[in-house]
Amino acid sequence: MKSSKNKEILINLDTIYRTFHTDEVEVNVLQGIDLQIYNGEFLIIFGESGSGKTTLMNIIGGIDQPTRGSISFEGKDIVTLSDHELTLHRRDNIGFVFQLYNLIPTLTAYENVETTTEIAFDPMDPIEALQLVGMEKRANYFPSQLSGGQQQLVAMARAIAKRPKIMLCDEPTGALDHDNSLKILELLQKINNATGTTIVMITHAGTLAAMANRTAYIVDGVIDHIVTNDKPTPVRKLNW
Ligand SMILES: Nc1ncnc2c1ncn2[C@@H]1O[C@H](COP(=O)(O)OP(=O)(O)O)[C@@H](O)[C@H]1O
Ligand SMILES: [Mg+2]
Repeated sequence: MKSSKNKEILINLDTIYRTFHTDEVEVNVLQGIDLQIYNGEFLIIFGESGSGKTTLMNIIGGIDQPTRGSISFEGKDIVTLSDHELTLHRRDNIGFVFQLYNLIPTLTAYENVETTTEIAFDPMDPIEALQLVGMEKRANYFPSQLSGGQQQLVAMARAIAKRPKIMLCDEPTGALDHDNSLKILELLQKINNATGTTIVMITHAGTLAAMANRTAYIVDGVIDHIVTNDKPTPVRKLNW
């Protein structure tokens, strides 16, 4: 086991609640989440649709704040940060990959990656990031000229280009066919192994648990249980 996969806590979530108020209805989505995310690990968050995965991910990434509970990042409380401080925290530390890529349609692949490298503290060159995902030859293509799988590769280049401490991937293969999903998952595993970047991936594909160091099973807004995997399986050897 690599030294990066020790038990050093990167993010600590302590009794996280999130309630949404819509019209006159209260929806208690997260109901006391306790979770430690370790430096360098590949963590999967697994759960049925509607169980609260995206809500949890948004809170882990500082896109949303909990109704109650505390979160620390490298020991620093992030719940009390101002909006501006939270923006800086996201910018410096967190790479996001979403199910629907979220590329800016009017910018080329290169320029999309540049949107993060221009503001990051110690970024890669956009071409280096595109090379890492095998998309350097498409640097000047617009999203509409790329397949879904290729757009997701560019979105991954955009996320890793800022050398984030953690990548948060919300159903990154949810809109892709099997071959393209394989490519994305292999790349995530490769990034995790090669750079030690912590990865949290949401999925509702249960068989993917074998590729991660740990899988947290979320049921109705709480962590039901966590399974630890001493020897993650290379994605290509998974039968899913
Ligand atoms: N902004 C919101 N306002 C009201 N309800 C929300 C909001 N975001 C999520 N929810 C509700 O929270 C529940 C969990 O949503 P979500 O975290 O997206 O689940 P998952 O990602 O596991 O499918 C759903 O019932 C959803 O309708
Ligand atoms: Mg979701």
